[in-house]
Amino acid sequence: MQEAIILVGGKGTRLRPLTNHTPKPLLSVAGSSFIRHQIAKLMDAGVEHVVFATSYLAALFEEEFKNFSPDLTLSYAVEQVPLGTGGAIRNAGRLLRGDDPDAPVLILNGDILSGVDLRGILDAHRSRDADVTLHLTRVPDPRAFGLVPTDDDGRVLSFLEKPKTPEECVTDQVNAGCYVFRRSVLDAIPADREVSVEQETFPRLVAGGSRVHGHTTEEYWRDLGTPLAFVHGSADLVTGTATSPLVGSPAQALIHPSAVVDPTALVTGGSTIGPGAEIGPHVVIDRSIIGGDVRVAEGARIHESVVDHDSTIGGGSLLREVVVGCHAHIGADNELPAQLRLACGIRIPAQGVRVSGTAAACATVH
Ligand code: GTP
Repeated sequence: MQEAIILVGGKGTRLRPLTNHTPKPLLSVAGSSFIRHQIAKLMDAGVEHVVFATSYLAALFEEEFKNFSPDLTLSYAVEQVPLGTGGAIRNAGRLLRGDDPDAPVLILNGDILSGVDLRGILDAHRSRDADVTLHLTRVPDPRAFGLVPTDDDGRVLSFLEKPKTPEECVTDQVNAGCYVFRRSVLDAIPADREVSVEQETFPRLVAGGSRVHGHTTEEYWRDLGTPLAFVHGSADLVTGTATSPLVGSPAQALIHPSAVVDPTALVTGGSTIGPGAEIGPHVVIDRSIIGGDVRVAEGARIHESVVDHDSTIGGGSLLREVVVGCHAHIGADNELPAQLRLACGIRIPAQGVRVSGTAAACATVH
């Protein structure tokens, strides 16, 4: 039986306020929770048992997968205190069913959208008789990542901290957040404290002479941890740049059948419109995620943004790279610039926030 562990216990701080009430892997991406895309991919690769390594808002995962599918067994390893990525893997390992110490266990971060062929990485692991195989991806600018140089046979040489100078950029290969562990290697991770798999387990294995291999591929890869990456990942799934067994033919938009979109509105770039949403006349929504029961009034423009469920966006407002929490109210004619995060339930009056001037009368008595 092929088994897998998915790490889903992080707090997802970079995606707040979306993650205030919902763990990052349960946020909706291209019409389904992100974790469902991953589960579908794992099932396609022949995985029959998945252990969720949970901690933050753990109960919501069991709710999401209640009565899920007879073809997949799901288990939940709940950390009362987050154990870090390595500790989480070790803790989840207790719930694996197999007892073969050489069995390959597939491990995924719960926030990586990737086109990697999971059967391919399992085959590579077996054919090299590796202790650990890491999926590595190439990035155009490696400065934001820890680097993973390999030798000509793909054996990992070291794990380097984020490079600070061009000379330190010795490779463009980075850890892609998908691993295969030999079961006995997984079981040897310390069980009594927090452990980082990236900073502690992998470097220790390499230093100790274990067979740690890199499996470098050129397929689509994106870490959905930041707001912009999150909306881009969702849009890529809708437009077909990235693929998931749960998304149909490539399209410019994914509009829930219960949403109402005015015929003069333009919804493009792989945007998704959630259930019950109402999109008014002449609205433009580009590369964005609009949650359930959101109302967007006439002439509003929303670019590369997320508007969480039950919020309203007033007519003529402009949002660019903005995250709006749930139950928020943005009045008419606001201009919200990049990187703003609006708290759940916030109320901004008409023309309350702008980056350009307005001729409207001042509401305050001077
Ligand atoms: P940020 O707070 O925004 O950095 O997000 P995050 O909490 O998800 O952290 P990060 O992106 O570094 O985590 C990578 C993956 O590991 C995600 O899928 C997390 O859910 C998961 N993860 C991180 N720390 C833990 C932990 O202590 N326990 C478990 N079970 N999973 C974790």
